[in-house]
Amino acid sequence: MFAKELLQKYGIPCARSVSFAEYSRAKEYLGQQTSPIVVKADGLAAGKGVTVANSIPQALDTLYNIMEAKAFGASGDRVIIEECLSGKEMSSFVFTDGKTVIPMVSACDYKSVFDEDQGPNTGGMGSYSPPHFTSPALSQEVTETILKPTVKAMAKEDRPYKGVLYGGLMVTRDGPKVLEFNARFGDPESQVTLPLLETDLVDIFMAVINGNLDQVDVKWSENACVGVVMASGGYPGSYETGLPITGLDSLDKDIMVFHAGTKVGSEPGQVLTNGGRVLTVVATGKTIAEAREKVYNNIPRIHFEGCHYRKDIALVKTE
Ligand code: GLY
Repeated sequence: MFAKELLQKYGIPCARSVSFAEYSRAKEYLGQQTSPIVVKADGLAAGKGVTVANSIPQALDTLYNIMEAKAFGASGDRVIIEECLSGKEMSSFVFTDGKTVIPMVSACDYKSVFDEDQGPNTGGMGSYSPPHFTSPALSQEVTETILKPTVKAMAKEDRPYKGVLYGGLMVTRDGPKVLEFNARFGDPESQVTLPLLETDLVDIFMAVINGNLDQVDVKWSENACVGVVMASGGYPGSYETGLPITGLDSLDKDIMVFHAGTKVGSEPGQVLTNGGRVLTVVATGKTIAEAREKVYNNIPRIHFEGCHYRKDIALVKTE
């Protein structure tokens, strides 16, 4: 709601939306719309508060669950009903000290558990950077029409923002538009963007804190980076933990493994599963295809009982 109002006030491109605090009024409005349409709980909902409804009855059910059945508690006291944008989804980021805005490389993430975006949403099953459809012109448009104006607007509202600003964007036929903002790095996006950073991240953070980001020359590699999440059997539903992970010492030297749901076992060198998204296997390469090949060549060397992962991360389809 805050973000929406800010975007609308400062003319920053985003989906058209209306917000409601009264169920009966929201229901009446929704009944007059056409699908697909987006229904969002206004508050935090552990990443589950947004539904893209493909029919008005589905949208009405969602509205009921949020506002009347209180599926997300007080986060559903207010809803946002929003135009459904179509295009290509992309995560874009900037570092900012509240004045200077420095773009990071962008990334795409994969939220559904199964290939071809099938199955329930997860915390993210993989990511790659930069998106195959980006260009210097698109990156500049995102920075100049969305991210810089947002930082400027926050300062103007007397709420200066410092840190990483993450714009979840839809690149539509009419240009990039904001779906959401996060005040943090993305997960799993940071696992494929930060390996491309050539400047010391601590120097950037210090400059963000000290307000002299204009003094830092932030450099990015021209390479591509791909990361694939290996998840526990059953994730994003229930899953077992404490299963031994083997093969971590058999990977090619240039492969990175980011541990998330793991823990040290009682035997020397033993690593056990300890979460749904267990680890991410990451590689860089001169092209997306090269990085992708390295990752998928190494993944089969890692094993834990029931593990699963998507096979189509960073697979660029010809359109
Ligand atoms: N990749 C989505 C997020 O970090 O929220």
